Amino acid sequence: MKGKETDTMEKIVSLCKRRGFIYQGSEIYGGLAGTWDYGPLGVALKNNIKNLWWRMFVDDREDMYGLDAAQIMKGKVWEASGHTGAGFADPMVEDKKTKKRYRADHLLQDIGVDAESMTLEEINAVIKEKNLKSPDGNELSEAKLFNLLFPVHMGSVADKTSVAYLRGETAQGMFVNFKNILDSFHPKLPFGIGQIGKAFRNEISPRDFIFRTREFEQMEIEYFVRETDWEESFEYWRKEMLKWIELIGLDMKKVHELDVPDEERAHYSKRTIDFEYDFPFGDRKELYGLAYRTDHDLGGHTQGSKVDLSYYDQDKNERFIPHVIEPTFGLDRTILALLSTAYTEDVMGGDTRIFLKLNPLITPVKVAVFPLKKNDKKLQKKAREVYDMIRAEIPEVMYDDNANVGKRYRRQDEIGTPFCITVDFETLEGKDGPKDTVTLRYRDTGAQERVSIHELLATLHAKLSTKR
Ligand code: GAP
Repeated sequence: MKGKETDTMEKIVSLCKRRGFIYQGSEIYGGLAGTWDYGPLGVALKNNIKNLWWRMFVDDREDMYGLDAAQIMKGKVWEASGHTGAGFADPMVEDKKTKKRYRADHLLQDIGVDAESMTLEEINAVIKEKNLKSPDGNELSEAKLFNLLFPVHMGSVADKTSVAYLRGETAQGMFVNFKNILDSFHPKLPFGIGQIGKAFRNEISPRDFIFRTREFEQMEIEYFVRETDWEESFEYWRKEMLKWIELIGLDMKKVHELDVPDEERAHYSKRTIDFEYDFPFGDRKELYGLAYRTDHDLGGHTQGSKVDLSYYDQDKNERFIPHVIEPTFGLDRTILALLSTAYTEDVMGGDTRIFLKLNPLITPVKVAVFPLKKNDKKLQKKAREVYDMIRAEIPEVMYDDNANVGKRYRRQDEIGTPFCITVDFETLEGKDGPKDTVTLRYRDTGAQERVSIHELLATLHAKLSTKR
């Protein structure tokens, strides 16, 4: 890790805990590695991102069908998809003394060796040649492949046939429901299935906060096309993904497209573009992916289940297995990228101020309302009226009368609230006349203006783009 970025990462992790965005999973029992719990502001941020994604990619399109499939799936699904094999496994080494396990390619990366496309034999040869030790300075075992799927035993008898798996990707839920969607909706090709949900991977070394975890959320699309149309569709979805990245407010200068070379692509893909991001832990890493999965999955499940997953084109009187373009978006990585882009420090009123410059479309709290004075009953009553009026149309509004106004502004800045409204004595003096105004304060500049209460909702809607 590099100095400045590590610093930013630590500040983000600390802010997330302090302000109720993200906590360590099972924290009071010492934590469970690779799991994180989203607190009240974290879940609000997550929901806003998910809703925006769902609106853009499912609700606003005629060619998309939404799905929420089970997270536990039959073992046969993962055999047919190829995930129980070497294609969904990472090279693992064990510290012979402490028994701690590590990703062999990560240990090599730490000494400047890129092992991403190396075979196990090559990895073992480099470990031997460099006499590589564990981070605790002990001898390492030979590298071997470690499968990332989480097995679960269903029911009361634990035999081989009862093994199911927590899904390693949401994608398979969409492939196994392909025929259901065909039978219920009779869509015409091209069309897609979209899903948001949890995925689980038994990562050998979860790290970098919510970047690499064992339980995470994906927002995925499986878009079904004729084989001859895959390149056109791939290019279309590449542009859609860039539109999304821009919409949510990521820093486009930190986004890089990588055409993944043959030997580094997932077992199911014939072409993949990784959308990489300059993350705050000092590395350029995968944020999202776009893959051409061919007919690997529908073909594999047709064979595995003996159920015909072909598509019949009535107009052309043709039956075939569609090919798939898959845009996939990791939700937790989206949040880490957004927080790192938004985290800002400046000097205001002689003090260092921390604020999250989040896009108002996704901030957990959109508006905060304060009475100028904490103990003034009339100010409180009026502020409550303004709060109730806003809440009826914009639910993500917060009322705060704790401490002085300066401190309240700082607290809202830290969680990214774009607009703060203060009800003061001038507000009280106005009786539906020009004086019936409040102070509207902007997060990014700290600038303030007076706005009439009558125009407040329209002003907020316009600034927040909350009316469709
Ligand atoms: N269905 C395709 C698929 O699962 P992937 O590249 O393995 O492809 C898709 O994962 C996205 O899921 C990644 O781009 C990343 O954003 C997210 N992701 C993958 N593994 C993750 C992990 N261990 N922790 C957090 N996010 C992860």
